[in-house]
Amino acid sequence: MQRRNRILRFNNSIRSMVSETILKPSDFIAPLFIDEGSGYEAEIASMPGYYRRSIDLTVKEVKELYSLGIKSVLLFIKCKDELKDNLGKEAWNKDGLMQRSIKAIKEAVPEMYVMTDVALDPYSIYGHDGIVENGYIVNDATVDSLVKMSLSHAEAGADMVAPSDMMDGRIAAIRTAFEENNFVNTGIMAYSAKYASCFYGPFRDALDSAPGFGDKKTYQMDYCNRKEAVKEAIMDVEEGADIVMVKPGLPYLDIVREVKDRVYVPVSVYNVSGEYAMIKASAKMGWIDENKAILETLTSIKRAGGDLIATYFAKDAARLINS
Ligand code: PBG
Repeated sequence: MQRRNRILRFNNSIRSMVSETILKPSDFIAPLFIDEGSGYEAEIASMPGYYRRSIDLTVKEVKELYSLGIKSVLLFIKCKDELKDNLGKEAWNKDGLMQRSIKAIKEAVPEMYVMTDVALDPYSIYGHDGIVENGYIVNDATVDSLVKMSLSHAEAGADMVAPSDMMDGRIAAIRTAFEENNFVNTGIMAYSAKYASCFYGPFRDALDSAPGFGDKKTYQMDYCNRKEAVKEAIMDVEEGADIVMVKPGLPYLDIVREVKDRVYVPVSVYNVSGEYAMIKASAKMGWIDENKAILETLTSIKRAGGDLIATYFAKDAARLINS
């Protein structure tokens, strides 16, 4: 035998010397669900161990995340029903829950890089990411709303906005508005290849944002398609995206690699709520080892080409890596 591949697997030392993919806490973006009130937290039924919290408890969580080496959070808010309408006007209320949350977090932990979700679904009476006319989600009027929303997040102190709506032309419109209003250091992380996926179910429970009619297939991508993801990512880069995203993660690692090989900006991957729920549920049944499943999953996403990973396991993974 001239070659024995097992030599490089012989013990821990040699394995760690030749390891090609190493996770670190700063790879993770921690999504946070924020609600009104104070001293309030509610566990999300379909996301055991994950909470929706009032601003004060969110700030406490952010401090803990930062101390574990996590550098970024991605904010989502739960909008009160009475504030919802078709245009999503509450989305750019300068005293809205999102805007207050951004300020509170930046004030308490200025180094934490704050990213914000930009889409109308939490604010929409229809639970859609855009404005509805005759049962159709209209593009250009929605983009106008998304621009107002992005500007108000930037104004409140967000470091980067993350449009998750999949409307056409929104990255260019937001970038232009940032230039015109002198937000020259505010970034854009584009959800470029976001698929219409059943894996978002638990997230919609968390924010009470499930679509009231139909589905999201006229704006989110068809999961049968691969080339379209590359087109979306390339266009978003041309329009001015700083980071592009592929979402969901685990069932889409082929897309992650394809996009990674075709663009020269960082690629982020969203390890979504349904992926979290699957691991939690099988661990609860005693069918898999939760900690091992977390690290193997996140490593596989990074190996596929994910430079950043938005994941509900951010805190658990950071602890596991640090220990
Ligand atoms: C909404 C949005 C969704 C997610 C992030 N932003 C749900 C959807 O598009 O219906 C899903 C995140 C997750 O499932 O973890 N714009």
